[in-house]
Amino acid sequence: MEVKDLSERVKMLPVSAVRVLSDSAKTTDVIRLTAGDPDFNTPKHIVEAALREAEEGLTHYTSSAGLPQLREAIARKLRVENTLSYDPMKQIAVTNGGTGALALTFLALLNPGDRVLIPDPGWTNYKPMIIAAGGEAIGYPLRRVDGFKPNISEIEAMVTDRTKVIVVNTPSNPTGAVYDKDLLGELVELAVKKNLYIVSDEVYEKVVFDGHSHVSTAALPGAFERTITVNSLSKTYAMTGWRVGYAAGPEKVVSAISALNSALNSCPSSVS
Ligand SMILES: Cc1ncc(COP(=O)(O)O)c(C=O)c1O
Repeated sequence: MEVKDLSERVKMLPVSAVRVLSDSAKTTDVIRLTAGDPDFNTPKHIVEAALREAEEGLTHYTSSAGLPQLREAIARKLRVENTLSYDPMKQIAVTNGGTGALALTFLALLNPGDRVLIPDPGWTNYKPMIIAAGGEAIGYPLRRVDGFKPNISEIEAMVTDRTKVIVVNTPSNPTGAVYDKDLLGELVELAVKKNLYIVSDEVYEKVVFDGHSHVSTAALPGAFERTITVNSLSKTYAMTGWRVGYAAGPEKVVSAISALNSALNSCPSSVS
């Protein structure tokens, strides 16, 4: 008898364009612009600190929400740099990169058939994560003529009773667009009007040029209680392989993320 088939969920996962292109780039004379991996190594003082801590025994499981000292450091960073005030013990969870924060957020928020609005073009992992969490990903268009900024009335027309979450990614991968306060304010107004959660993916916050500055969505009026702020050490500190990211948001959501982190990963990497 033939063994039973895989889950329907897995069969629905799209093939990652990043993986296909990265694999073909290995065999061809091309410049790889697929994965967002800094072309320099992790700074020496970080590597040395990790070596020291590993030697001293920081090699065990940690709390499922991450080391308390790290959560406190993240809360300080979010307060000073992003004008966001989170309780480190209740509103911040350390995860396996920003990827882990996003995947666990979708698992925490979505019921089967719930819809998530995602940027198109956007980072290729959003869709499979949402499908794996039982949801449906719907792309909202970002056009070159608009400077790859979202059109609020167009997004509003896409919202249905099944829409639960909108993903905002600024600075954007792959377009490079950086959203200002006014545009983010309009997105937040829409989310409030339609009662949507906002997942604000800010992993590229330090990769800004030409006088632009990054604004955190959760800092805008009305946003805090419905926004999950996702960030990562990967891009800012050239630490993609260390797998440290975090989600900060309402206690109810963050406590669900920590419970899922415990069930699926035990905890984040202690030495990282
Ligand atoms: C837009 C965006 N969000 C999140 C991530 C997740 O990165 P990491 O899991 O390394 O933090 C990436 C990685 O390429 C990305 O491009």
